[in-house]
Amino acid sequence: MLPESAVREAEIHAAEHELYPPSPEVVRSAWVQDWESIARRAEADPEGFWAERALELEWFSPWNQVLDDSEKPFYRWFVGAKVNIVHNCLDRHMKTWRKNKLALIWESEKGEVRTFSYFALNREVSKFANVLKSMGIRKGDRVTIYMGRVPELPIAMLACAKIGAIHSVVYGGFSVEALHGRIEDSQSKLAITCDGAFLNGKIVELKQIMDEALKRSPTVENVIVVKRTGREVNMEAGRDLWYHDLMGLPIANGKCETEVMDAEDPLYILYTSGTTGKPKAVLHVHGGYMVGIYTTLKYVFDIKDEDRWWCAADPGWVTGHSYIVYAPLLCGATSLMYEGAPTYPYPNRWWQMVEKYGITILYAAPTAIRGLMRFGEAWPNRYDLSSLRLLGSVGEPINPEAWRWYYRVIGKERCPIMDTWWQTETGMFMITPLPCVALKPGSGTRPFFGIQADVVDEEGKPVKNGDEGYLVIKTPWPAMLRTIYGDPDRYVEQYWSKYPGLYLTGDSAKKDDDGYFWIIGRVDDVIKVSGYRLGTAEIESALVSYPAVAEAAAIGLPHDVRGHTIYAYVLLKTGQAPSDDLAETLRLHVGHEMGPIAKPEKIIFVDKLPKTRSGKIMRRVLKARAMGLPEGDLTTLED
Ligand code: WTA
Repeated sequence: MLPESAVREAEIHAAEHELYPPSPEVVRSAWVQDWESIARRAEADPEGFWAERALELEWFSPWNQVLDDSEKPFYRWFVGAKVNIVHNCLDRHMKTWRKNKLALIWESEKGEVRTFSYFALNREVSKFANVLKSMGIRKGDRVTIYMGRVPELPIAMLACAKIGAIHSVVYGGFSVEALHGRIEDSQSKLAITCDGAFLNGKIVELKQIMDEALKRSPTVENVIVVKRTGREVNMEAGRDLWYHDLMGLPIANGKCETEVMDAEDPLYILYTSGTTGKPKAVLHVHGGYMVGIYTTLKYVFDIKDEDRWWCAADPGWVTGHSYIVYAPLLCGATSLMYEGAPTYPYPNRWWQMVEKYGITILYAAPTAIRGLMRFGEAWPNRYDLSSLRLLGSVGEPINPEAWRWYYRVIGKERCPIMDTWWQTETGMFMITPLPCVALKPGSGTRPFFGIQADVVDEEGKPVKNGDEGYLVIKTPWPAMLRTIYGDPDRYVEQYWSKYPGLYLTGDSAKKDDDGYFWIIGRVDDVIKVSGYRLGTAEIESALVSYPAVAEAAAIGLPHDVRGHTIYAYVLLKTGQAPSDDLAETLRLHVGHEMGPIAKPEKIIFVDKLPKTRSGKIMRRVLKARAMGLPEGDLTTLED
C-alpha cells in the first residue's frame, strides 16, 4: 500500500456510488452508442476488431497477420504491411475536401495567431522533409527535437516521420543534463531547437541550454534553430543553421515523397522515467500505434469533422505526441495548440480561447483544472463556454472535487468527462470512459475495447473488488511500446518479468463492484509533478553531481494543486555543513541540470538514509515519515 492510499481511499469511497449517466444529446450522434455490444465483440475477437479499425486508414500494402505473438513479449502488429503514419495524417487528406480544412490553429501566449490548413501543413512538412534529406538525414536516423510549443514542433516531428527518421522530442522544460543524456543515449545526428521559448511571460533560453548540452554530446553534427523570440543567440559557424534560411532555399521544395515504411518500423522514441537508473527510450512504430491512437481518439472523444479539438498538454510528452500531433490529423480534425501557461497574464486565458475558437472538446490535466479552480468561478463564468460538448482529463488521478468543478463550472453539467488512463508506454488510452458510459468522479471506468486489465496481488493473483493491488494489462494492444530503444533486456525486465505474460504498469489501483477501475498512484520510483513524469533517480543523480553531496533520496509528497511535490533528503560529504544557502544552491542546481519542474520544494539535510540491508533506499519510509503516517513494515530496514 502507498502512504497516500488512505487519502485516495477516502476520495474513492465518497465518489464510488455517485453515478453520472450519459448525456442523451451527446450519445445520440456519437460514433459509439452501445458500449456493451462492441466490447463483447472486441473481447471475443480483438484482432478482428483492430483489423477493421485499421481498414479505415490507408496502407501501401496489406498485412498478412494482424498480431504475431510468437516472440512474446516482443509483439508485432499488422505484420508485413507497408504504411507511413504521415501518409494518413496529411497526404491522404490532399485527395479530399479536407485539403482546405483547418488542421491547426496556434495561439501564442501574447495572443498572436497562426493557422494551417491541411494543405498548408502538408506543404510545410514536405519542405522541411526535403531540408532534412538535403542535410543527410535518412531512414532510421535519430533527430532530437527540443523546442517550445510552436507550430514548427509538430512540423519537425511530421517531417522526420515522413522520411522515416526517428524523432526524439525532449520536453522544452528540461535542462542541460536531461537534454544531454537523451541526446547521447539516442545518438542523434541532428538537433532542432528554437532561439528561446515564451512561457509565463518569461523566456526559456533553449538555444543556450542546447549549446551547453552539446558540449557534453559529440554525436550531433548540425543544429537547426527556429527564430521565436528574436533575441541574439550564439550561432556556431558550420554547425548551426536558421530554420527560416533553410526553408527559403530552392532545396526546400513543397513536394516530397512519403517514405514507404514497414508497419513495425520505428516512428519515434520518447524518454520516460521508470524504476531506477536513467530514463528509458520508449519506442513506438508506424503501423499499430497509428491504428491505436486513431481509434481511441475517434471513439473516446467522438471526433467529428465539425469539432474543434484542444488537447492542452505539451507536445514534448506522450499526450502531445499522440493526441496533439498524430491522432487529430489521422482523424482529419481541427486542433488548437496553445503556446503558453493557463494563467498568463490572467487566469482567463483558457476560457477566452474556448470562446474565441468555439472549442468543442477540451482535454487537460487535473493539475491545470485545480490550478484554475483556485481562481474561482468568476473567470470562466465571464465567457461563453457553450460550444463545449466533451471534456477530458489525463496524467494523474483527478480528485472528485476537481472533477465536480470541471463538470459543473466548465461543462455546465452537459459535458461528460473522459478520464483517460494511459502511459508513454501504452501509446494510447487504455482505461477510459466513452461518451455513452455512466461516469463516476475520479474513475477511468473500464478498459477500452479489446483490452483486458486487472488488479493483482504480489503473486499476480487477482485481488477482491475493493482491494488495492498492482494494475496489469493482460492482452497486447496495437499501440504498445515495442521495446526500449537499444535495451531490449530492460524492456522485458521492467514490464514483463514480475508476472510473466502480464504487462506491469507500475500503478496501484482498485476495481469496484461495477468493474470500474480507480487509479491510486505509482508504486515505483516515478513521481508525477503537475502531471509530468519524473524519476527519483534522475533528481538524485542531479543532486549527487553537486560536489558537496554524498547521497540523496527524492520522494513525491501529495500536493493540492500539483498532485505531488518533490522533497529531497540529502546527506553531505564529511566536512560540509548544512545551511539554508546550500539548500537553495542545491535546488537551483537541480533546476539547472534537470529543469524547473524537477526542483525540489524542500531540501532536508540528514545524517543517514533509511536503507534495506541490500542498500536500497526505502523511499516509502521517508514518505510515510514526512506525511506523519505509520511507517509500515520495517523488517527489511537495515537498522
Ligand atoms: C498516471 C501520461 C490516473 C499513471 C499519459 C500512469 C493517470 C502515468 C491517468 C503515466 C489518469 C495517467 N488517472 N492516473 N487518467 N493518466 N496517469 O507516461 O500513474 O507521462 O502510470 O503518460 O500517469 O504517465 P505518462
